Amino acid sequence: MSADQAAQPGGQWDEAAIEALLAPAVRALAQPTSLSPLPYDLNAGVPDRASLPARELAEAAVAALAEDPAGALTYGGQQGFEPLRAWIAERQSAETGLALTPAHVSLTAGSAHGIDTVAATFLSPGDVAIVGAPSYPGAIRTFRARGARVVDVPQDEDGLRPEPLRKALEQQRAVGAPAKLIYLVPNYDNPSGATLPLERREAIVRVAAEHRALVVEDDAYTGIDLDGPPPPPLFQVAEGQGVIRLGTFSKTIATGLRVGWTLAAPAITERLVFMRFDNGASPFLHRMLLHYLRSGAYEPHVKVLQDIYRARRDASAAALVEHAEPYITFRKPAGGFFHWLRLREGLDAARVAATAAEEGVAVTPGTMYYADGGGEGFVRLVYSALPPEDLREAITRFGRALERVAREGEG
Ligand SMILES: Cc1ncc(COP(=O)(O)O)c(C=O)c1O
Repeated sequence: MSADQAAQPGGQWDEAAIEALLAPAVRALAQPTSLSPLPYDLNAGVPDRASLPARELAEAAVAALAEDPAGALTYGGQQGFEPLRAWIAERQSAETGLALTPAHVSLTAGSAHGIDTVAATFLSPGDVAIVGAPSYPGAIRTFRARGARVVDVPQDEDGLRPEPLRKALEQQRAVGAPAKLIYLVPNYDNPSGATLPLERREAIVRVAAEHRALVVEDDAYTGIDLDGPPPPPLFQVAEGQGVIRLGTFSKTIATGLRVGWTLAAPAITERLVFMRFDNGASPFLHRMLLHYLRSGAYEPHVKVLQDIYRARRDASAAALVEHAEPYITFRKPAGGFFHWLRLREGLDAARVAATAAEEGVAVTPGTMYYADGGGEGFVRLVYSALPPEDLREAITRFGRALERVAREGEG
């Protein structure tokens, strides 16, 4: 016995021993994306740091603790702080014209946790979840981690296409494995930046209802409206039936808060809350957040963010036209954080990303966003995190990388 083993009663645990115990669905998962050490990170979809409202949140934290210390610092239940749920329900009622109550809302640790709560409640191993191609990889990983089979349906520059969706739903029904849910990001999609037009929202709600598949509407970027408000949510189009809307304060306040919400008919919300085994989210955070939201600082803050991100979107779009246009086409997104670039025929996303890295710029190859393969002709470029002057430099370098890859292809 080695000295180490003698010191540790359990002996050494190597990687293989841990791997052998992993749930099979977890063993098969792709790695998540991470921050890049390169000088210009256009890979991580993170918000601007300088505009985080730290002082206002500190004041709200003090107020929350002073107002009800025991309430803030003891368990608050699985569904979350009722007055914050009421604030969200009021906002959502005003936006959708539906009569929504705190019973429609549950509070989660960001919309990522909302996706997981939905997956835990509705998906068993072998169940089918439909996602757009391309789609947010966090959702694909979450569904797969629950053992679900993820089926891709093609998107175009207006988002998920209703006709292929209908075909996929019919095909799943025909093979005796009807899809249980359809996941989409209708506003300022990650990665495609697309915003789904109203007619598509109506068509998707209709076909999903015909097939009794839940629509999971991930609204992670709603609020980052750069050209005015988007079309009405699918939740509104469906009059609150058969759609779960996921929201978050990550993009409009701070990703580090980890506060998001689910909005659904009370019968669905009850089931989502029933499947929560985390003793609920933090009552302290919920109270702090509500103080902040009621302080009058939130609306002007969101306007400031919209101005910041609009300037970044426009500066990066102009730089792309100037430095990369022979090699890419793209449509300026109406909100959110992302440019989705279609590469010129013959350019490969992995080569482009590797060459951009040599130029000091991190971008994400499109292949990251497809459940069933594809995306070699696309690159996602994040404009949210860097100021316009850095974006211009990064995109000048990115253009150089594209030129190099194109030249290598010809040579
Ligand atoms: C589409 C989408 N959904 C959910 C999330 C997770 O956000 P949150 O911080 O609210 O968990 C992200 C984060 O990037 C996202 O892009």
